[in-house]
Amino acid sequence: MADHDHFDLVVIGAGPGGYVAALRAAQLGLKVACVEEEKALGGTCLRVGCIPSKALLESSEKYHEAGHALAEHGVQIAGVGLDLAAMMKRKDKVVTTLTRGVASLFKKAGVTRIEGHGRLRGGGQVQVTSGDATRTLEAKDILIATGSKVATLPGVAMDWDRIGGSTEALSWPEVPERLVVIGAGVIGLELGSVWQRLGAQVTVLEYMDRILVGVDDEAAKAAHKVFSKQGLDIRTGVKVTGAKVEGDRCVVTYEGGEPLEADRVLVAVGRRPNTDDLGLDVAGVEVDDRGRIAIDAHFATSAAHVWAIGDVVAGPMLAHKAEEEGIACVERLVTGYGHVNYDAIPNIVYTHPEVASVGRTEAQLKEDGVPYNKGSFPFLANGRARALGSTDGFVKILAHAETDRVLGVHIVGPRAGDLIAEAAVAMEFGASAEDIARSCHAHPTLAEAVKEAALAVGGRALHI
Ligand code: NAI
Repeated sequence: MADHDHFDLVVIGAGPGGYVAALRAAQLGLKVACVEEEKALGGTCLRVGCIPSKALLESSEKYHEAGHALAEHGVQIAGVGLDLAAMMKRKDKVVTTLTRGVASLFKKAGVTRIEGHGRLRGGGQVQVTSGDATRTLEAKDILIATGSKVATLPGVAMDWDRIGGSTEALSWPEVPERLVVIGAGVIGLELGSVWQRLGAQVTVLEYMDRILVGVDDEAAKAAHKVFSKQGLDIRTGVKVTGAKVEGDRCVVTYEGGEPLEADRVLVAVGRRPNTDDLGLDVAGVEVDDRGRIAIDAHFATSAAHVWAIGDVVAGPMLAHKAEEEGIACVERLVTGYGHVNYDAIPNIVYTHPEVASVGRTEAQLKEDGVPYNKGSFPFLANGRARALGSTDGFVKILAHAETDRVLGVHIVGPRAGDLIAEAAVAMEFGASAEDIARSCHAHPTLAEAVKEAALAVGGRALHI
C-alpha cells in the first residue's frame, strides 16, 4: 500500500463533528484524512441544515419586519415585495462561502480530503468508493462521524418534493399557499416560521400534547403562545397517519379529524443515525436498540481503534455537541485526556423570539427530587428589549436550593441564543446564581435580564 494511503487517523464524515475533529487531530500532529461523499464539506449543518435555515430565518424576518414591524419605528416603506429567488441565492452564497471555508481550513491544517463513500473493511482499513474508483486507506485509528438522516413516517409517501424533509423546504421555488408541517420540534417550528413569514398559511401537526419536547415546560408554553399569535396554526395531540400527493395538492390524514389539504408538506419528525452501507458488521461495530453506534464514555465502539461521535451516537443531535465530542475524542487519542460536559450543552431554537436553554429543566429537577430556587425576569421590563420592540419572553434561572449553584437556564426572547452563552460559561465554571447577580452587566443590554433573573433567585430583582 502506498504511503499516501497510510494515516494516523481517518475520519469518515466532514460535518461539524468530523471536520472539527480532523482539524484538531492535525493540530495535534496526526496525519489525518477526512472522507466525505458530498462534493461540499461541512455536512448537513453547513449544506442543508443549520446554516441555510438561519440564512432564511434572517431574510424572512427582515421581509416580515419591512411589511409589518417597521412602521412602528416610524419607518415607512411602500410596496414591500418578495424576491424569493434572490433570497435563495443569498442563502446559497452563505452556504458556499462556508463550505469552501472548510476546504481551505483543511488545506491550511494539512488534512487530506478524500472524496467518496467510506466503508469499514476491518483491520484498520477504510475503503473509499467514488464512481467506479475504489481506494483503500490504512489507519491506526478510525473516527465515524457520519451524522444523521431525515426520519420518515409510516403512511407518509415522501416524494422528496411536494412532501419532503428539511432539505427540500430550504429550496422551494415558490411560497406555498398552504403548508402542513408534521412535527412541532426544532425543524418544524424554524422552517414553519420561515414560510409563514413569507406568506404561507402554515398548520403544524404535533403528536405530543405540547411543542418542543425536551424544552422546559414554561418556556415551551410561552413560545407556543407567541408562535400562535404570529399566525402559526399549531395543533397538538394530533397523530398523523398518512400523507400523499393527489394531483396538484397533498392530502394529510390524521387520527380523529378530517384530512387536510396542502400545497406542500414538511415532514419534521426527527432524524435517524446515518449508518447506511458503512461496513459496521465487517468491522464488528455494534449498534444499540435505536440503530445508533454504541460507544463507551470515551467514544470507543466495540471494535478496537474505531471511534464514533455526533448524531450517529446517543445524545442530542446538535452540531456543537458533535464538535465537542470530536475534539475530546482526538485529544484523548493523542494526550490521553479529553472530556465533554454534557450538563452544559446549550440548545437553541432560532425562531423569533428564540428559545434557548442549558442544563436541567424544572420537570427534570422535580423528577430527580433536587431542591431548587427559581428566578425569572420578563423582557417586558428590560430597557433594551423595549427599545428593540421585542419584549416577548423571559429569562429563568434554576439554582440549587442549598448551594445556589446554577442547574439550568431557560430563555425565551430576543437573541436568546446569544444570551445563553453566558449561562453555559457560568455553568461550566460551576457558578452560583449569586455569581451571575454580582457580575457587572452593561446597560442597556438584553443580558441585564439574565442578571435580574439571577437576582430574582434570591428574591431581590430590582427592575420588577
Ligand atoms: P424533533 O425531535 O425536534 O421534533 C419532532 C417532532 O415530531 C416531535 O415533537 C414529535 O413528537 C413529532 N412527531 C413524531 N411523530 C409524529 C406524528 N406521527 N404526527 C405528528 N407529530 C409527530 O425533530 P426535528 O425537528 O425533525 O429535528 C431533528 C433533529 O435536528 C433534532 O434532534 C434537532 O435537535 C436537530 N436540529 C437542531 C436545530 C437547532 O439546534 N436549532 C435545528 C434543526 C434541527
